Amino acid sequence: MDLILLGAPGAGKGTQGALLAERLGIPKTATGDMLRDAVRQGTPLGREAKRYMDAGELVPDEVILGMVRERLSQPDAAAGAIFDGYPRNAAQAESLGRMLAELGRSIDAVVSIDVAEEAIVQRMTGRRTDPETGRVYHVVHNPAPAEVQGRLVQRDDDREETVRHRLEVYRTTTEPLVAYYRASGVPLHTVDGDRPIEQVQGEILELLGNDASARP
Ligand code: AP5
Repeated sequence: MDLILLGAPGAGKGTQGALLAERLGIPKTATGDMLRDAVRQGTPLGREAKRYMDAGELVPDEVILGMVRERLSQPDAAAGAIFDGYPRNAAQAESLGRMLAELGRSIDAVVSIDVAEEAIVQRMTGRRTDPETGRVYHVVHNPAPAEVQGRLVQRDDDREETVRHRLEVYRTTTEPLVAYYRASGVPLHTVDGDRPIEQVQGEILELLGNDASARP
């Protein structure tokens, strides 16, 4: 199954994507995580990407395309992937469609997670990540176990003014993909992401199950 998770920064794509990956046995392909890895490793790609990420701007499409192509060529992605944070604009959506077609695949479903803007700002400023496992937590809504508390880090782009700019970029560039996928006829589901994590997860699994049972 190839599944796209759409949603504003902080809507819960990474959180839901990790749970779905465990549940469905297909890898989460998060371009933001791949870019942060490259930044941590200090690669030329990482150094270039960091300028855009810290400013809350999108990294150029050609950088992203190369990363995703490479990820899809790995054996664990042979049966599908959960795309988190990708595609981000119409050009990326077109190139993803072409890449999957080359593999004899296509997008099976798109899930758009909706959360009000003020809740998002509050989520992002409380977000903490475990650098060893990549797990994402929240200081209030999703606290980390005591044994990992000491190593949690905060993302550089989670400062409030950067978050607000990322939301603006989302509204102008990424949100139109909801209409793009609706027009393309791919099953598209909108879920209310402003509920406890388990409830959001339950609804997504139910919707995907309904899609699967509707397929011939
Ligand atoms: P990226 O890493 O993709 O960030 P994003 O899309 O802005 O999304 P986030 O990771 O911030 O949020 P999320 O929706 O995954 O929420 P999460 O689950 O963490 O991109 C970062 C940057 O990289 C971009 O700005 C850009 O520069 C670049 N980039 C990445 N991909 C790109 C692409 N394709 N093209 C170009 N540039 C690209 O949850 C957030 C917090 O809320 C957590 O603390 C979590 O614990 C908590 N939470 C989650 N769900 C709930 C809930 N239901 N209730 C309460 N709290 C919750």
